[in-house]
Formats: sequence, C-alpha cells, structure tokens
Amino acid sequence: MRVSVFGLGYVGAVTSGCFSSFGHSVVGVDPAEAKVSLINQGKSPVIEKGLGETISDAVANGRLRATREARDAVLSTDLSLICVGTPSRRNGDLDTSALKLVCAEIGAALSEKPSRHSVIVRSTVLPGTIRNVIIPELEKASGKKAGLDFGVGSNPEFLREGTALEDFFSPPKTVIGAEDDRTASELEGLYSAIKAPLVRTSIEVAEMIKYSDNVWHAVKVAFANEIGVICKGLSIDSHEVMEVFCKDTKLNLSSYYLKPGFSFGGSCLPKDVRALVHKARSLDLDLPLLASVLPSNERHTNRGLEMITQLGKRRVSILGMSFKAGTDDLRESPILEIVERLIGKGYDVRIFDRNISLSKLVGANKDYLLRMIPHVSSLLVESLDDALSHAEIVVVGNGDSEFRTIGDRVRSDQFVVDLVRIRDHSRLKENYNGISW
Ligand SMILES: NC(=O)c1ccc[n+]([C@@H]2O[C@H](COP(=O)([O-])OP(=O)(O)OC[C@H]3O[C@@H](n4cnc5c(N)ncnc54)[C@H](O)[C@@H]3O)[C@@H](O)[C@H]2O)c1
Repeated sequence: MRVSVFGLGYVGAVTSGCFSSFGHSVVGVDPAEAKVSLINQGKSPVIEKGLGETISDAVANGRLRATREARDAVLSTDLSLICVGTPSRRNGDLDTSALKLVCAEIGAALSEKPSRHSVIVRSTVLPGTIRNVIIPELEKASGKKAGLDFGVGSNPEFLREGTALEDFFSPPKTVIGAEDDRTASELEGLYSAIKAPLVRTSIEVAEMIKYSDNVWHAVKVAFANEIGVICKGLSIDSHEVMEVFCKDTKLNLSSYYLKPGFSFGGSCLPKDVRALVHKARSLDLDLPLLASVLPSNERHTNRGLEMITQLGKRRVSILGMSFKAGTDDLRESPILEIVERLIGKGYDVRIFDRNISLSKLVGANKDYLLRMIPHVSSLLVESLDDALSHAEIVVVGNGDSEFRTIGDRVRSDQFVVDLVRIRDHSRLKENYNGISW
C-alpha cells in the first residue's frame, strides 16, 4: 500500500519504519527539516532500539522517504496516518492545534486529488475529536465530504517507548475504528502481516479504548506503588506480595470486576478497603488512590439514587436486593442503601428477591436488614409479577436470570433503571436508563 505518515516523532518514525519493512511504500511528513533530512539519510530521528536499521533498510530499498510537503505526500499515497503530538494544555485539556494544522494541510491536498484517500488518526485523541475537530477541518479545507469523498478512521497506537518495534510487530491488539467498510478494510490490509487480535469498532469506541488503556495502566502503577508503601510501613516485602497477587489470573489479572455496573458491596470489599485505608492512616501514610475507593463507590450509589428520584414518580419496585444474584448476604448491599434512602424520602417501595425471605434469614444478616429497614416484611413481594404490577419505576438491582425477561414484561408507561445491564435492554429504549451505559 502507499501510505503517508504525518509527524515523525516517536510514533510516526516507528510507524514509518515498520510499515515500510512490510513492503508498504511510505512517505513521512514533518515540518522539522532535521527529522526529514535524517530519515532521507537512512537515520532514525528518535532513539529507539532497532529503528535505525529498519529505517536505513527501508530508505536504501526505496520504500521510505520523507518530505516537509503535505501536498506531495497526500498526492503520492492512498492513505494518511496522522501521528502528530497531542500534548496537554495548562488546564489539562488536549492541545489539538497540531492536529488542526495537519488537517488543513491534508484537506487542501485532498481538494486537488481526484481519487479517494483515507485519513486515519493514530495520535491519541479524546472521544469526539475525530467527529468534532478532524472531520470538520478536513471537510472545510477540502470542500469534500467525509465518508463519501474520503475515508476517516481511528487506529490508536499501543507502543511503549524503548520496546516500540517489538510492540509494533506484536501488539496486544489492533483497533480499527471506522464507519465505512472501505476505510476499515484498507486498514486491515495495512496490518495483514501482523498477527494480533483485530478489533473493528466505531470511531468513538476506538478513541476511548486508548484512554481506558492508559488510565488503567496508570491506575495499576499507582495501586502497586501504594500497596508497596503500606507493605514497607508494615515491614512486609511488597515484591513478594505482588508476585503472589499476579499469580491470580482468575480474579486479579483478568476481566473479572471490569464491567461497568453498580457499586460494590457485600461483607468483604467495603470492610477490607476501610480497614487497609485505616491502617495506612494509622501509620501516617498518605495513599490517595486507596483512600478514594470508598468515596468513589458512594458517589456511584448516589448516582443510582438520583436516577430514580429524578424521574418524578413515587412507586418503585426493586428487583434484587442482595449485592449480587444467588446470595442472601445483605451486608453493605448498595441496593439496600438505596431502598433505605427511598423509604426515608417517602417513596412507596416494593422489593422482589427470591433469595431473600425474612423467615429464612438468620443471624447477623437478618439483624442488619432489620436495622436498615425495620418494616421490610411489608415491602417484600412474592413474585416478579407482583413487583412489576406495583411499579412506576422498576430498578434492576442484580443480575438474577429472571430479570432478563423484563424487556418483554414492563409496560410502556413504566421506567426501568438498570444498575446491572440486563441482557435484553435494547428492547427497552424509550423509558430505559442504565447507570453507566
Ligand atoms: N510516544 C509514545 O510512546 C506514544 C504511544 C502511543 C501513542 N502516542 C500518541 O501519539 C501521538 C504522537 O506522539 P509522539 O510521542 O510521537 O509525539 P512527538 O512529539 O514525538 O512527535 C510529533 C511530531 O509531529 C510533528 N508535527 C507537528 N505538526 C506537524 C504537521 N503539521 N505536519 C506533520 N508533522 C507535524 C512534530 O514536528 C513532531 O515531530 C500523540 O498523540 C501521543 O499521545 C504516543
């Protein structure tokens, strides 16, 4: 394929060198004369293991050249990859000025180009940037229509400096965000030599994945460091702890606990987070990440409550009271917290949970429930039908399989507040609201 790469910094230089090593014909573009001249001499403009040889081979074989002229690059290629910098502004926002400039240049060249061209964003950009900044800039400068006259896509980069070539040739995944099939299949063609899971998705999901990834990596580092600090405070070897932690690929290093849903609860997580944070405080250790976990969880519970109260209805049926399906453990159930607060505000509440029957609950669990909601027995109903017939608002509180049928059972005048993402929520478009989707 004939590809132009805009921006010859870390990402652009690696992208240019690596794609040309697959046999693609690559033109690199950068306003910095020094970078352009280094590439044309077969040298890498950045220090990165193996990149010098890759670029030198590609230039010697005529598969890679660099220029400062955007027009030349666009007219002599079929697809442009934007790899310019997107640094932080002082207020933390993304600085899109280099992106806008490059779009104006590419757009001007597109206005002269009779054949179709695709513009793919590899720079890290906040969700919405391609639709609200890149496409308008390209359309303004070219006088053409995105999706019709030229293709637009997102293809975030996952390389790490220092191991960039390895990461490029063996990425964790290749993400292609595009609306039209032609642009997507062009991008698939570009990556055909790479064996990695290929994800085809929307432009916005592709933009967001990059942020979820990087923020997650940052959270992991901060988490490991805070665990390290508390281990040091307790004279425990943090590396031994984290080695054992990392051996658990069922709950720790896995997709478990990583689906947006409702607040956590139960007899362990809140209690244990609270105890560890307290221990850290007692050792005068400042651990803001761990200390923020319970407040974050409480905010999420408040969010659930607000979704119900802002509907302006009074009759609420809660489906599922325990913090997850298949248990009768009610301790620190965030749903119970919501029930208690709704009752306190005078709402007419009913609860259906086939695992919760006052006659069967015993010990601490029963005491906890009666302390939270003294008259709970008058609120419990026997069947899903009873709960649905009472409700103006149906709150799905846990993932019990029976609740998946409510898509067929709620009336059009009933609202559904979903805290768990029941499976067939797409049928409930009108009056349906999910807590974080
Ligand atoms: N560095 C990384 O490890 C990494 C990894 C993944 C994603 N990213 C993202 O990739 C993007 C680029 O990062 P980087 O580290 O390569 O940036 P960089 O600052 O090293 O390089 C950006 C290059 O763009 C050039 N440029 C500016 N305006 C231009 C224009 N109008 N036309 C052509 N070139 C222009 C600059 O001269 C510079 O050489 C950023 O959005 C970054 O967040 C970076």
